[in-house]
Amino acid sequence: MFGLKIEDAIKYNENLKKYVYKKGDKLRINFKDKEALMEYNKTVLKVLFGLDIEFHKNGLIPTPINRYLFIKSTFETLKKLGIEKPNVLEIGTGHSAIISILIKKFYDAEVYATEVDEEFIDFAKRNIEKNKLDIKIINSKGKVIEGIKEIRDKKFDLIISYPPFYSKNSVASGRKFGGALAKEVELIGGGKFGEEFSFKIIEEGINFLNKKGVIALMMPKKPEERRKLIIEKMKDVGLDIEVDEIKTGNRLRYIIKGIKM
Ligand SMILES: C[S@@+](CC[C@H](N)C(=O)[O-])C[C@H]1O[C@@H](n2cnc3c(N)ncnc32)[C@H](O)[C@@H]1O
Repeated sequence: MFGLKIEDAIKYNENLKKYVYKKGDKLRINFKDKEALMEYNKTVLKVLFGLDIEFHKNGLIPTPINRYLFIKSTFETLKKLGIEKPNVLEIGTGHSAIISILIKKFYDAEVYATEVDEEFIDFAKRNIEKNKLDIKIINSKGKVIEGIKEIRDKKFDLIISYPPFYSKNSVASGRKFGGALAKEVELIGGGKFGEEFSFKIIEEGINFLNKKGVIALMMPKKPEERRKLIIEKMKDVGLDIEVDEIKTGNRLRYIIKGIKM
């Protein structure tokens, strides 16, 4: 399996050592400790992908290999459709800008990325500059796709997002959420199962998609209802569906791809 063992990670990053302990003869890191998680994921990005990434301490911390597999699966679909150099829009790139950065680093693509949180936007821009990549970061000002002036006249071959998918009653309020403290803005989504933000991406995205273009969304396994609703919505707007499962550690994620034929 593609990854970075803890014994190897500490060879590359001295700072990690203080978070490592032994269980039997195995090295472990407590990934519930956010500092430890950030330091380990930074190391993975550096060693496996040659990237320098800083995370905002109040944001959700992405799992690099999971995002890489999300992109790989999506670009395999694009390739099958004959699209080699896509025009890409990422919705909600976050403080790390990880999805857009991995796309730009490993694929030949023109990349636009939106985000709504000002602090996250500053972090994302710094991460992009540090890695000397050309990605256009746009402040969505709370919009999803329609009404964003920077992309008003654009069409895309790929609209990709790991969208906010929390149901109406989710609260951050300083407690643990998805293994990490999260900002309020990350805990939106709306609807009974957190599906509404994704619905907007699909409903608005269809008008910004080229022929053979793809809308790719990543979702956790549960709840199944949310995935079903998203697939139904994609079918409603006339997209063909492909679903992939990807596994990082013991976490299962679904890649839902809607293709405009
Ligand atoms: C689940 S996080 C994904 C972050 C990152 N792309 C990743 O893969 O880790 C969703 C992101 O969407 C952002 N967001 C929420 N509403 C938004 C909007 N209207 N426009 C753009 N981004 C938004 C949140 O601030 C958050 O950073």
